[in-house]
Amino acid sequence: MIHPLEELRAAALDEITVASDEAALDAVRVRYLGRSGSISSWGERMKSLSKEEKPVVGKLLHEVRSAVTAGLEKKSEKLRTEKETGALADLDISLPGTPNELGALHPLTQMLDRAIAIFRRMGFALAEGPDVEDEWHCFDALNTPPDHPARAEQDTFYLPDGRLLRTHTSTVQIRTMEAAPPPIRVIAPGAAFRRDEIDATHSAQFHQIEGLYVDERVSVADLKGTLEFFFRELLGADTDVRFRPHYFPFTEPSFEIDVKSKALKSGEKWIEICGCGMVHPAVFEEVNRARGDAAYDPEKWTGFAFGLGMDRLAMILFDIPDIRLFAQNDLRFLRQYA
Ligand code: PHE
Repeated sequence: MIHPLEELRAAALDEITVASDEAALDAVRVRYLGRSGSISSWGERMKSLSKEEKPVVGKLLHEVRSAVTAGLEKKSEKLRTEKETGALADLDISLPGTPNELGALHPLTQMLDRAIAIFRRMGFALAEGPDVEDEWHCFDALNTPPDHPARAEQDTFYLPDGRLLRTHTSTVQIRTMEAAPPPIRVIAPGAAFRRDEIDATHSAQFHQIEGLYVDERVSVADLKGTLEFFFRELLGADTDVRFRPHYFPFTEPSFEIDVKSKALKSGEKWIEICGCGMVHPAVFEEVNRARGDAAYDPEKWTGFAFGLGMDRLAMILFDIPDIRLFAQNDLRFLRQYA
């Protein structure tokens, strides 16, 4: 005799076979194994069976339930793969793909990253200030008198409200000292602007890395050691570094640094790369006046500052002949540094 449970199993498996999608399959699942499904209801019915029947029917119920569950799973899996291969059938994998163009860092950014990494190792933190500045931060606070040529209209971009595009990143020296007492050890990379005649080596916008180190007993020896180390790390161990006496209103003594390295294409030529010097006491005094305290007592604190020309550094590092290439966005140029 065929038990009704066995009939249910056969019917369920048949329905599973003909179910053509996930919804139909789910309906079968509910009909047989749902809370009030026809197979499930046998669980209730077991209670009324005799002692002898119970284990036999219990075993059968378990078998039927497992068989139907397995059948449902197998069919569901089959429907899923059919669906996927069906989607793939519409796809022509021999067609060329959409090319994904790989970007790369601008040579100036690469140069900046290298420089920052070296200063980081010497304990310099990053500082920043605005491109649009007031005259005080750009000139007065840096001991630069009103009749200084850098302040002239033909040298600087003034805004109608009297502010200007900073002509150097030295503004960040002042902003850093206004914000915090000594000791200070920062670099401040950024753009600077001048009304230069534009040619292969001059641009109205260029980039500098400013540096400021203020502590007790900082001397020219620290300045020289720090910058010589920097240039040799950046340009190679056999780089020659030369300090020439120079004049800046905000440093005393002041120097200009030239570098020369056989490893570079510029070869035997000295290249002027950096202005630097010991922070002028008048700068400390003006900062104190702005702060309203005596945090930068020039009797106690000394410091050095420098301003590195980043465009020129990148030009010699990557052998780039014309500063205008940096801003032209010509992919044929930029791709060479990818
Ligand atoms: N700000 C100077 C320039 O742009 C460079 C400089 C920075 C010189 C710091 C001395 C100290 O030419």
